[in-house]
Amino acid sequence: MLTPELSCSFLGMNLTNPLVLASGILGTSASLMERVALSGAAAITAKSCGPEARAGHPNPVTVSWECGVLNAIGLTNPGARAEVPLLRETKQRLVALGVPLFASIFAPRLEDFGEVARIIAEAEPDLIEVNISCPNVASEFGTPFSASAQSAAAVTRTVRKAVSLPISIKLAPNVPEISRIAQAVVTEGADAITAINTMPAMLIDAIAAKPVLSNHTGGLSGPALKPIALRCVYELAQAVSVPIIGTGGVWSGRDAAEMLMAGATLVGVGSAVVRNGPSIFNRISGELSQFMSENGYAQLADLRGKALP
Ligand SMILES: Cc1cc2nc3c(=O)[nH]c(=O)nc-3n(C[C@H](O)[C@H](O)[C@H](O)COP(=O)(O)O)c2cc1C
Repeated sequence: MLTPELSCSFLGMNLTNPLVLASGILGTSASLMERVALSGAAAITAKSCGPEARAGHPNPVTVSWECGVLNAIGLTNPGARAEVPLLRETKQRLVALGVPLFASIFAPRLEDFGEVARIIAEAEPDLIEVNISCPNVASEFGTPFSASAQSAAAVTRTVRKAVSLPISIKLAPNVPEISRIAQAVVTEGADAITAINTMPAMLIDAIAAKPVLSNHTGGLSGPALKPIALRCVYELAQAVSVPIIGTGGVWSGRDAAEMLMAGATLVGVGSAVVRNGPSIFNRISGELSQFMSENGYAQLADLRGKALP
């Protein structure tokens, strides 16, 4: 039996495997992020942070159901200034483990993105992921910037001007042509694409005859999202040449293989961690290795894009 090679390179970073902790899950303290790295995540994305501290929505904000997770946390965060020391400490701990740190930023207004990016860059993360696609704050922020090529490009231009660090733009699934949006952000200097954020959805409590979440609607993630994420990554891989962090519904090594076959370079894992804890990373990479070994794939490059036409 061959022992497959899971290590890979991403924008000049060397990763021991393709699995990344997705933003918003355990990315709120240095010790939690270190724990996830020690559990086998090869890169860590911190929780998104914006210009000001935000309390987020009142409970209930997360519900786990049979096909995944629905959340409307509402971008709870301490604000960019307070995030810098947290990211600095995290970075210090992750450097010791050889695990890159991806920061994540958002802003309610276009003109705030540059300032948030500049502040966060002080912590020297390895990459800044730009979350323009949170579906749970539309009542306050309006239509997400991910909704059109024009607004997505405008955010990318602003962040690109503000920082020289690598940037990845995080896109939404609920758009008519995700490829056109991706092409527009790459033209403005995006180094990578993260696809996808959660899908707007809702659950109703039939006994209470009310939506389950306090925000009424939320973002769907987990297994129900996987086919949507695969379709997005598959289209993006044919439309842009930058690397893609394929995220959505990855629960097993086989799911990760499918995401790589759709054209992803790295694979984000979020809800599987909510459901199973950080040890899911070692399980997924073990299963991926076994899948590759059983199916004759010696390295990730042999899997990458294998399902593309
Ligand atoms: C509880 C929860 C909180 C999230 N918070 C964020 C966030 O702060 N920023 C962000 O870009 N994405 C956030 N996401 C979206 C995830 O990063 C990911 O894109 C999505 O959940 C799909 O991946 P999954 O199916 O593996 O969970 C959140 C998801 C969940 C479940």
